[in-house]
Amino acid sequence: KRDSRFGELTKEHIDFFKQTLVDDNAIIDGVTKDASNDLEPFNRDWMKKFRGRTKVVLKPKNVDEVSKILKYCNDNMLAVVPQGGNSGLVGGSVPVFDEVVINLTRMNKIRSFDEVSGILVVDAGVIMENADNFLKEHGHVYPLDLGAKGSAQVGGNVAANAGGLRFLRYGSLHGNVLGIEAVLPDGTIMDDLSKLRKNNTGYDLKQLFIGAEGTIGIITGVSIVCPQQSKAVNVAYFGLESYEKVQQAFKEAKRQLGEVLSAFELMDAESQKFVHKKTEKKRPLEGDYPFYCLIETSGSNGEHDNEKLEKFLEHVMGEEIVADGVVAQDDTQIADLWAWREGITEAIGHVGGTYKYDLSIPLKDLYQLVEDTRARLESKGLIGDDKPARGVVGFGHMGDGNIHLNIPVPKYVKEVEEALEPWVYEWIQKKNGSISAEHGLGVAKKNFIQYSRNETMVKLMKQIKQLYDPKGIMMPYKYV
Ligand code: FAD
Ligand code: MLT
Ligand code: ZN
Repeated sequence: KRDSRFGELTKEHIDFFKQTLVDDNAIIDGVTKDASNDLEPFNRDWMKKFRGRTKVVLKPKNVDEVSKILKYCNDNMLAVVPQGGNSGLVGGSVPVFDEVVINLTRMNKIRSFDEVSGILVVDAGVIMENADNFLKEHGHVYPLDLGAKGSAQVGGNVAANAGGLRFLRYGSLHGNVLGIEAVLPDGTIMDDLSKLRKNNTGYDLKQLFIGAEGTIGIITGVSIVCPQQSKAVNVAYFGLESYEKVQQAFKEAKRQLGEVLSAFELMDAESQKFVHKKTEKKRPLEGDYPFYCLIETSGSNGEHDNEKLEKFLEHVMGEEIVADGVVAQDDTQIADLWAWREGITEAIGHVGGTYKYDLSIPLKDLYQLVEDTRARLESKGLIGDDKPARGVVGFGHMGDGNIHLNIPVPKYVKEVEEALEPWVYEWIQKKNGSISAEHGLGVAKKNFIQYSRNETMVKLMKQIKQLYDPKGIMMPYKYV
């Protein structure tokens, strides 16, 4: 239900926004005129599962503008949703009712880069692929990679604490982000845009913004340490006969490839079938296997890395840990193999919608959940070509203990949802896992936080929210 404490937008509010954001195209105004078509992409989430009905989108171009409009919203009790590339997968980036959308797209400047330290400072609205391309010109890479890199923004990455495909190698944004500039709901500019690797002067408050999903303020600038671009990158794609073998392969990859291993991704047979159906590309391997893994190595010495990889391959094939495999010979083949992993989300999306669960589970039980879910939906007669659910797909960041359980459906329907929730969350709680490994809670998971966090933790979160956002204007219908 819409919270009646929040004001409804009027012409007077729009006049203020127009005076404050003077550029053309800085406002989509659906209050004084009909702008439903223009507003639609900002109201609808990537999965087409959540839809808000905002009447205004504001696109500030610098931190002062963000400060002025946020203060005004706070003074006038207007609810706010910060929005980056709107690629989030938990419905956090779109309004629930008529919240004001503050979209960071026009804050897209690279502020500075230091080639010696590798520290990049950017506006929050810089698209991650643009950051990565800029960094590559300077021999570096952005420490995060994910399928939505062409639209997701640095600020959105930080707000969501996104994990992605390079996490295994470069770690969490909690380590890589060195500084944040943010605007608090009352308009205060929090300038903590440090470029220091080490800084133990009191609480590290910027950490609160990493993964806060826009609930305590708007990130406007980010300072982030970026690694050197690796000279030698190799990618291999394997077929394996069991999850037991997948675990053995992971153990061997860590043992033998150690310092050059940069990704270890898991894809089940069903995930690859969906990609095949969508792309109609030739499969990388001849045979069918229940599991596939993609391994990437990144190092500074090609010869040395090749030698290591060859030895590793000899070992895992000789010991029959891996049933069949292929190694990319050039950059095109590297991209082609990655497409079998990165293309899963989009391929499944073609069915219509997806029930998506993004979970951390101790490695030994990681795939069990997918099997249990398949058995559960089958026993209820819910899976099949003419049934409400079109399959149960498991894939994810094996190297990080993070699996994505996806149930593609032509339409979101109650009976599938009721079979899955809260059953999946109860399953996770029993294993002491996390109901959100990397996508966050947003609106999709907000009622399930207690399956991964105890009462004390939730209470502390609420106290922090109250401190930063006493009037509760930021993301009012989302997770805190
Ligand atoms: P949005 O979707 O716009 O917003 C995400 C959240 O952050 C929302 O709650 C929003 O309110 C808030 N927010 C956005 N910008 C700001 C800001 N400047 N200040 C404060 N709050 C803000 N995620 C992963 O972790 N790993 C993956 O591998 C991965 N792969 C993906 C693949 C695909 C094909 C897609 C569509 C999504 C994927 N995601 C993944 C999900 C998503 O988290 C990332 O795409 C990305 O980090 C979101 O960035 P964005 O700019 O689109 O943010
Ligand atoms: C991925 O790992 O591909 C992303 O997290 C997207 C998804 O889960 O669909
Ligand atoms: Zn992921």
